[in-house]
Amino acid sequence: MHIRDLSTLALIIDAAAFDSNLATMASALPGAALRPHVKAHKCTSLAAAQAGIGHRSFTCATPREVVGMAAAGLGTDLLLANETIDPTRLTVLAAAQDLAAITIAVDSVETLAAARTAGIRRVLIDVNVGLPRCGCAPADAGRLADQARTAGIEVRGVMGYEGHLMMVADRAEKQAKVDAAMALLLAAHADVGGEIVSAGGTGTYDLHTVGTDAVTEIQAGSYALMDTQYSTLGLPFAPACFVVGTIISVGSKHAVADVGLKSLGMDHGNPALAVRTSLNDEGTPADVWFCSDEHITFGTSAGVSVGGRVFVTPAHIDPTMAMHDTAWVGRGDEVVDRWPIDLRGW
Ligand SMILES: Cc1ncc(COP(=O)(O)O)c(C=O)c1O
Repeated sequence: MHIRDLSTLALIIDAAAFDSNLATMASALPGAALRPHVKAHKCTSLAAAQAGIGHRSFTCATPREVVGMAAAGLGTDLLLANETIDPTRLTVLAAAQDLAAITIAVDSVETLAAARTAGIRRVLIDVNVGLPRCGCAPADAGRLADQARTAGIEVRGVMGYEGHLMMVADRAEKQAKVDAAMALLLAAHADVGGEIVSAGGTGTYDLHTVGTDAVTEIQAGSYALMDTQYSTLGLPFAPACFVVGTIISVGSKHAVADVGLKSLGMDHGNPALAVRTSLNDEGTPADVWFCSDEHITFGTSAGVSVGGRVFVTPAHIDPTMAMHDTAWVGRGDEVVDRWPIDLRGW
């Protein structure tokens, strides 16, 4: 099938850019140095490509992602890098331990008790390294690890996500802040023990020293498909995911395509748009005026007509993927594969 034959709107992955992103990351962080975060794509076919290039341990954000990865045979080493106290979901996770190696993050006596009651066998202590989200105070990590071990649960180490630093623009400032955040994590690790010190994301993947007595793995996910926000950092990863739309109306100064905010993660602002027919041509960028539910309105000059195609690059890849059930994989003009986005839901 040709890309022009797709019914729109359609989410498409540019296979060439995707392959290049995976290869670039695998040469910087080979094998177990990267624990790809599947929250960025929610797609077991895509995760299989990451496993194929050498990354066999994965990070997940939801129980559904963990269970789906296990069922897809990608369960060599799954980390739920997020807290849950829901007994039903924890019981499902505990049952999946027969299929896959599963570790879950805990950051309190409550999350630890819930994991223990459900029969979870391995945990990681989640440490707050500056992002006001989950994670215990670094000074509390050792005590929580002792409580877990007393309860017969294996403690594999620590994680600390420095998400508040991903978009710091100045590299020297960012490096200093990442180092300070990781000093907190390593101090906690000295109290906790275990073989894992897990941190990082796409915006900091090259600011960590990965190795013994340091961070042991990076949890980046967005690098595979990218988005316009991460593209502002000048990273060596190319946009590899677009929502393809059709121009349905043309005014004197604007045109409208059938890609609205119900198909785009909008929390990082408007997407980018190019009038474009295939992955081979770069197309003509246009100014996005605004998105509404089912429409994107953009400024236009001559040459835009009803029935033409646009490629919309999301500003935030993770929520965008969660809004689609299918990713078409394209190479040039051709659609070469269809990947279900099968890890959606909770
Ligand atoms: C716990 C955790 N680790 C790592 C990441 C890194 O993801 P990204 O590759 O998008 O920077 C995220 C993203 O939100 C996260 O929540």
